[in-house]
Amino acid sequence: MRIVRRAAGTALLFAAYLLVISPVGLVIRLFRDPLHRRPDSRLDTYWISTRTSTAPPRITGIPHQGSPARIRDDVRRFYNTLPFNYSERASAQARAIRRSDPCAAYPPLVQELQHGGSVLDVGCGPGWLANGIAFHHQQPAFGIDLSETAVTRARRVAEILGNSATFAVADLFQFHSDRQYDIVTSTGVLHHTIDCMGGVRKIAMELVRPGGLFLLGLYHSGARTKFFDHFRHLAEDRGYTEDALFEEFAAMRRRGGAGGPTDRTFERSWFRDQLFHPHESAHTLAEVYETLSEANFAVESTSMNRFGPAPRLARSAADADREFTALAGTALAEGRYFPGFFVVAARSMATQ
Ligand SMILES: C[S@@+](CC[C@H](N)C(=O)[O-])C[C@H]1O[C@@H](n2cnc3c(N)ncnc32)[C@H](O)[C@@H]1O
Repeated sequence: MRIVRRAAGTALLFAAYLLVISPVGLVIRLFRDPLHRRPDSRLDTYWISTRTSTAPPRITGIPHQGSPARIRDDVRRFYNTLPFNYSERASAQARAIRRSDPCAAYPPLVQELQHGGSVLDVGCGPGWLANGIAFHHQQPAFGIDLSETAVTRARRVAEILGNSATFAVADLFQFHSDRQYDIVTSTGVLHHTIDCMGGVRKIAMELVRPGGLFLLGLYHSGARTKFFDHFRHLAEDRGYTEDALFEEFAAMRRRGGAGGPTDRTFERSWFRDQLFHPHESAHTLAEVYETLSEANFAVESTSMNRFGPAPRLARSAADADREFTALAGTALAEGRYFPGFFVVAARSMATQ
């Protein structure tokens, strides 16, 4: 009996060795991985889960309660697992940039680029904007991001496009630059940091040259609440699973005419970024006005009124906040995509 048990144990150990450790196991896992991952041959640091989930979703969208170091590590890990705006293949992203200029979403940026000058993109992700600037406007663009995976992809896209954009892994709060830039962009980034308005101040006071332009994109508190209410209602009251929620999210984006690559990885990268983020804060136009004017910047325009004349300070900024929140409510009730994101273009009033 003891001999049989020992033989069975040895056989089990041998099978485990074959399946888990040996080259045979490695080859088998390329086809059938117990964690349902698959390798991305184009970027060897990145694996994505293909497992479907029927579990009830745990929508987040709240500030992280941990220490600053913990928040930063969680955000970095989140984007290293799957960066935002990340298509399955670098070539698909390069093709999409060639076909249409990502800067077109920001008319004040396009206008400013006509005067030439240097550009810094803070929190560049996989490099849509910086590569778009270098490719379509032939201007030097430099992107920094916390996530190594995002920066690796951004560099790869620059290589495919053959343009001059450069990238570095860096945390804005530890980033020291010996120069200032004519244009600094930061879209969808600072609300995922430990100190959003501190980040606004750092960019405005250290990185934008006197007279330069700051293009800032943030989540809006009122509109963002409507966005989460909409998806929480689907999950909690109507019993949507995570997969069902994903399908609804992707359909909403399609109905809203979302451009870019169409692969599932790309859609997933948006879905998890907007509903399952480990840390986000949300803000108002009035708050942004205040912080920017303290840093000696004048708001020139905002996406809230399609970059028309900027609402004046104080009361009209608060009115614009209320209108934007109402707009989000209406759009979402009609099944239209409205994530509650707004952009502000502001000019440095400092003199040389
Ligand atoms: C929602 S993504 C936006 C990416 C890009 N701006 C876009 O619009 O496609 C946020 C990005 O900010 C980066 N990020 C977050 N905290 C940062 C920090 N402290 N310093 C630099 N980048 C940061 C993340 O790694 C992530 O790539």
